Amino acid sequence: MRKLLIAANFKMYKTISEAKEYMNRFLPLVKNVSDVDIVLAGQAILLPLMVELADGSNVEISAQNIHWEDEGAYTGELSSKTAKSFGLTYTILGHSERREYFGETDETVNKRLKNALKNGLKTIFCIGETLSERESGKTFEKVEKQVKEGFKDIAVEDLKNISIAYEPIWAIGTGVTATPEQAQEVHEYIRKLLSTIYSKEIADSFRILYGGSVKPENAKELMEKADIDGALVGGASLDPEKFHKIVLH
Ligand code: 13P
Repeated sequence: MRKLLIAANFKMYKTISEAKEYMNRFLPLVKNVSDVDIVLAGQAILLPLMVELADGSNVEISAQNIHWEDEGAYTGELSSKTAKSFGLTYTILGHSERREYFGETDETVNKRLKNALKNGLKTIFCIGETLSERESGKTFEKVEKQVKEGFKDIAVEDLKNISIAYEPIWAIGTGVTATPEQAQEVHEYIRKLLSTIYSKEIADSFRILYGGSVKPENAKELMEKADIDGALVGGASLDPEKFHKIVLH
């Protein structure tokens, strides 16, 4: 059985005092949750604080992106080696906002993935189609390309440290959630693809999360679907009580 993974993506929200208040309210709410892996992804500058506050809890802290080199002249980037040295255990990679606004490609995401895995960071690897791709029947083609190119030359033994987050771009921050059936259809496709590329055993143990306007009201019906193994939550994760409800769904 796959254990659920429910992750908050704070994106570029929260000051230091807001992050502290969040952690102080959220950690006690989830302290007895053992059947869900819980991850919080903050802005890079908040991560050391979040790691410190989460120390000894059942909540892990994630970066929102990392670079493909351990170190170097890459102004403004975050090194996974440095992140790991601060106690981080996760990173998000390939988020559609990175792809759309910051020129991220399947090739650069693949390089970042290799570096994250090399330095022992578990990865939430984001894929998903635009509205026009969905409307022109290209959803499967798009996610297949993102998986094949994003996972190029990834060692089979590293796959256990990757989860995929299927986030249809038209559902991100729009309030329009994919229906559980729409999400399940793509998740099932991705699992079959993993089975074809790797093996049924690997595909069956691989976590595939859904992201895009997940909220307390729709979390249960999404996560009841056979191939939906958790969620990556933006807007609704910014409020600790709301995110707690999603974790419990
Ligand atoms: P929303 O939950 O705000 O739609 O954001 C989803 C997302 O992009 C999580 O990474």
